[in-house]
Amino acid sequence: MAANRPSILPPGPESIETAARLLREGKLVAFPTETVYGLGGDATNDRAVAAIFETKERPSFNPLIVHFPDELSIWPHVKMDKETREKVKELSRAFWPGPLTMVLNRAADTPLSLLVSAGLDTVAVRVPFHPVAHDLLRAANRPLAAPSANRSGSISPTQASHVADSLQDRIEAVLDGGACSIGLESTVVSFHAAPKGRPVLLRPGGITQNQIEAIIGPIDVVDPETSPKTLRAPGMLQRHYAPETRVRLNAKKAAPQEILLGFGPNALDEAPEGSLNLSETGDLREAAANLFAMLRQLDALGRKSIVVMPIPDEGLGLAINDRLRRAAAPESP
Ligand code: TXA
Ligand code: MG
Repeated sequence: MAANRPSILPPGPESIETAARLLREGKLVAFPTETVYGLGGDATNDRAVAAIFETKERPSFNPLIVHFPDELSIWPHVKMDKETREKVKELSRAFWPGPLTMVLNRAADTPLSLLVSAGLDTVAVRVPFHPVAHDLLRAANRPLAAPSANRSGSISPTQASHVADSLQDRIEAVLDGGACSIGLESTVVSFHAAPKGRPVLLRPGGITQNQIEAIIGPIDVVDPETSPKTLRAPGMLQRHYAPETRVRLNAKKAAPQEILLGFGPNALDEAPEGSLNLSETGDLREAAANLFAMLRQLDALGRKSIVVMPIPDEGLGLAINDRLRRAAAPESP
């Protein structure tokens, strides 16, 4: 268990080994990158990713950036046409390792948690430049999901002590890599619409639009002030996964043509065959870890509706309910 304050591990091979072991065990470790400190967890472990959202107290599931030690390691996790692949390779040659994040379509068989994508068909990938981040990614031997290592709504941390102050007893350890040299989050470019649509700059950062366009030609920019409303709306921007099947919330029973997404002990006792339980023990972290995979599974059954039992509106339950409300909302025109 974490102590009252996380241990701050000084740079060095021993600390890297300790941090890598904790991460392989599914625990969370904050680590330095050249932009800001990241709150890292094993991106292939649903529970670890759920713990990241819990620790940040994010009231919704925003997709997370997944970090890799080098360009080569991203390819098993993503898919794209040839033309897009060329662009991605050119950008990676120019800016990786470094403060550029690319949003790409997920490969069908990637072991990455659906929760890092917040249920979307895309995943954000980045190869950081910071040597401590690089060594940790190598030693952990798995991709690491890492949002900025602060509580939701507070300022991004650029020193190990900021992380320790903000997250206190909520994480196991912070790897100390000194002050972040850039101090501003990475630039995010999305290829989700490629090859038909242009790449889209989703978040400005240290690498500018001009620098990117010099390499791959014109890109679109999502500007919160001037972009058409449709592009600005977070639902559109992040293309939130919504089931085809109607979703009915806060109900305890499903009719025979329906299917139940339960929560808690004995939830499925009288449920239609094929129903699923987010967490038999009523554990919100387990429920969050199962949410997107189970929604997809139930959606694939093609029933009249997916009936979801009430989830407590506290802790991770806030983010789960936010997601469920969006899944249940009628499609906007
Ligand atoms: O510099 C950084 O990028 C830092 C360090 C730790 O790498 N990380 C960071 O993560 O800033 P976070 O979670 O605070 O911001 C991730 C951004 C969000 O704006 C999120 O919406 C976007 O990336 N993002 C992640 N995955 C996405 C996806 N699949 N589609 C669209 N946007 C995505
Ligand atoms: Mg952030």
